[in-house]
Amino acid sequence: MDLVQFEKWVFREFNINLSAYKSNQLHRRILSLMSRVGVDKVDDYVTLLKKDKAQREKFLDFITINVTEFFRNPEIFEELSKKIKQELLSSSRPLKIWSAACSIGAEPYSIAMILDQCSPRVNHKIIATDIDSNILQRAKKGEYVQTEIKNVKKNLLDKYFIKSNDKYVIKDKIKNMVSFKKHDLILQNYDKNFDLIVCRNVVIYFKPDIKDAIYKKFSESLKKGGLLFVGATESIYNYKDFGFEKSSTFIYKKI
Ligand SMILES: C[S@@+](CC[C@H](N)C(=O)[O-])C[C@H]1O[C@@H](n2cnc3c(N)ncnc32)[C@H](O)[C@@H]1O
Repeated sequence: MDLVQFEKWVFREFNINLSAYKSNQLHRRILSLMSRVGVDKVDDYVTLLKKDKAQREKFLDFITINVTEFFRNPEIFEELSKKIKQELLSSSRPLKIWSAACSIGAEPYSIAMILDQCSPRVNHKIIATDIDSNILQRAKKGEYVQTEIKNVKKNLLDKYFIKSNDKYVIKDKIKNMVSFKKHDLILQNYDKNFDLIVCRNVVIYFKPDIKDAIYKKFSESLKKGGLLFVGATESIYNYKDFGFEKSSTFIYKKI
């Protein structure tokens, strides 16, 4: 079996469409994981994955790349916070927000803290999704280590976290603003009528046509005037093709 056939096997076995991910990068990663677990041939790796649950989990964890932190790229989050206040909170209606590919929840909880700071008495709804069910369990728990909360300002840390040994646990007030569910950006339909969609540091792993299809679907899922917040290396050059205007460097507005 070669790596392209392996991708097909992964799709049948795990329902993950690896052919949508950039091949060079993905194949390099798979080969490096195989060598780490001590197998040379793809067939042997498949045999290992078939019989060993821990190896399957390891493979899925590795493929999904869950690295994240609260207020990732803090200066860009400041910009988002300003835009939320200026453009989305002008009326007092609750906002509908989607944090797509949310990993362990640091991103949706960062947004929940921003909203609780500037619009505390409104019942905003944040839906946070990811393809990885294990990571969503961690997100629901809301327990973090120092490196993950290093960008959280002291006043927010004191207000919204409880320190327990070396863990920082997010308080229920913030936790209750976010609902987590499993969702695959490539294979599933998107919900509609969002005021804000946050999708950062995942489409960089996808092939260009897949990325474009995702931006088109995001645009269709946003309300007119709604915002799309992308990662710090993910400027959308053809944003006009999807019905966006540029609102700031990494924020696009649906027109
Ligand atoms: C690098 S993390 C980004 C987390 C967060 N958005 C951030 O910027 O800090 C990428 C996340 O994308 C998720 N992911 C990968 N492929 C996906 C897909 N097809 N659909 C939904 N989520 C996916 C992974 O499970 C992982 O949690």
